[in-house]
Amino acid sequence: MSVGVVIVAAGSGTRLGAAQPKAFVPVAGAPLLTHAVRAATAAAGVSAVVVVAPTTHLDDAAALVEPVSRSSGIPVQVVPGGAERGDSVLAGLRWLPQECDIVLVHDAARAFAPPELFERVAAAVTEQTPAIVPGLPVVDTIKVVDDDGFVRDTPDRASLRAVQTPQGFRRDVLLAAHATHGSSATDDATLVERLGLRVLVVDGHPAADKITTPADVVRLERLVLSEP
Ligand code: C5P
Repeated sequence: MSVGVVIVAAGSGTRLGAAQPKAFVPVAGAPLLTHAVRAATAAAGVSAVVVVAPTTHLDDAAALVEPVSRSSGIPVQVVPGGAERGDSVLAGLRWLPQECDIVLVHDAARAFAPPELFERVAAAVTEQTPAIVPGLPVVDTIKVVDDDGFVRDTPDRASLRAVQTPQGFRRDVLLAAHATHGSSATDDATLVERLGLRVLVVDGHPAADKITTPADVVRLERLVLSEP
């Protein structure tokens, strides 16, 4: 079995308020994209990585990933992204070598997801469990609200998970999910759920939280710099 990683990094990241797209913002000594590619190439079993970058920053992305690819010996291809996240995932999938029968889709915004998380997710993808997402228990009570802000439902917190990336799939299942349900989801597992297939949640990692706002930068920087 051969594992390929698609890192989607083509979003603008406007909520971070930076001058450049989010993947190029330096945090803990390197751009988010560099951290993400380092982790993906360090994970055991990964044989190829595709980075999906903003069309305006293809050269910048190539310059960042080249040294990581050289030192790890893992080929890293940079390709242009699409309008929605799902378009970017599909763009990356097209470039992934055919021999990669397991695909991990990862948000560059979750730059500090450690190699062990990539390995845990990839190891859980099997014929019987073709779609795997890492997730953590939710600490807040979550309300479902209507358009006017009134609470419609309060799901039992014990059954909730905040899901992360990398999410792992059998390649054929991920392609079918995108072909059938397009780019209309905030993660790839949702598209697989819509195919009627079961998605398994495995343990996530606190460092894999998404960087969206300046406060996330401060929190994750503190977390990763305090790790031994
Ligand atoms: O916007 P959101 O935070 O959900 O984006 C999640 C990930 O998807 C980010 O890493 C972002 O760069 C990527 N993305 C993309 N192409 C888009 C939109 C988002 O690669 N058109």
